[in-house]
Amino acid sequence: MQVVHRVSELNEAMQQARNRGLVIGLVPTMGALHEGHTALVRRLRQDCGFLVVSIFVNPTQFGPSEDYDQYPRTLEADAAKCEAAGADMVFAPVASEIYPDGFETWVDVGGLTDILEGQRRPGHFRGVTTVCAKLFNLTGADLAAFGAKDYQQLMVIQKMVRDLNMKVRIVPVQTVRENDGLAMSSRNAYLAPDERVAAAVLNRALKEARAVFENGERNALKLRMVAENCIRREPLAHLDYVEVRDAETLGIISEAVKPVVVLLAVKIGTTRLIDNAVLS
Ligand code: PAJ
Repeated sequence: MQVVHRVSELNEAMQQARNRGLVIGLVPTMGALHEGHTALVRRLRQDCGFLVVSIFVNPTQFGPSEDYDQYPRTLEADAAKCEAAGADMVFAPVASEIYPDGFETWVDVGGLTDILEGQRRPGHFRGVTTVCAKLFNLTGADLAAFGAKDYQQLMVIQKMVRDLNMKVRIVPVQTVRENDGLAMSSRNAYLAPDERVAAAVLNRALKEARAVFENGERNALKLRMVAENCIRREPLAHLDYVEVRDAETLGIISEAVKPVVVLLAVKIGTTRLIDNAVLS
C-alpha cells in the first residue's frame, strides 16, 4: 500500500487504476483511525478494485473556536490500519494541496445544513461538502463509504450527490461501538477516564428511547424527553440537543408514524459528542 501526499501523485495512481478498468472506492476520513473507520474500508473492499482512504484534517469544516489545532494526527498508525483493512492507497495531503492560494469555490447544500449540527456549527457542512466534492473529483470514485454515526453528514452528502448529479454511489455503514455502547470517535481520545465512563450515557439515552418506542410510544416529544432525562441524570454530561426527526428528511414531526431518527449532541467536559438511533 502506498501513501501519497500530493494531488499529482494521486492523479497518476487514479489514471492507472482507471486504465486497468478497476472500480474505484473512496473512504474520506480525518485520520486518528479506529474500528469505525476500518469498518468503512472493509465494507468497500468487497466491491472495488482500487480503494483509496483519504486522511485530511479539513480546516474549512472547523469553526474558529473548535478543535482544529488539537485534532489528533497519527498518520503512521493510520496508514498501518488502512493497509491491514485492505486499502490500496492512502492520500494524506497538506492543506495547501487541497486549498491552494486563490481557492474560492464552495459547495453549499441548502436547507438540510441549516438545522441541528449546521445550526450549531455554522459553515461546518460547507467545509464537509466542499472537501468531499473535491475528493470525489480527484479520485473519480465509483463508490464512497460514509458512517451512519454522522447521520446528518451522510444525508447532506447524499443530497449533494443527488442535486449535482455526481456519479459516485454513497455506501452507508452502520455505527461501530465500544463495548459499553459509546460510538467510536476520534474525539473519544479527549475524554479523561471519568468522562469516558460518563460518555456511555449517549447510547444509554438512545436505548431508553428505543425501549419506550418498542413499547408503543409514538409521541415525538415523549420520546425526546425519555432521552433527555437520561442525559440529565449524568452529572458530567451537558446536553446540547436531543431531537426526534423524520429519518428521511430530518423534518420536524410530532408523531413517529414513519421511521424516525433520534439525534443527540452532548458535551462531556469540553468534548462534544454526537450519536443517533433510527427507530422504525
Ligand atoms: P471522520 O470523523 O474522520 O469520519 C470519517 C468517516 O468515518 C465518516 O463517514 C464517519 O461517519 C465515519 N465514522 C466515524 N466514526 C464511526 C463509527 N463509530 N462507526 C461507523 N462510521 C464511523 O466525518 C469526517 O471525518 C469528515 O467530516 C469527512 C467526511 C472526512 C470530511 O472531512
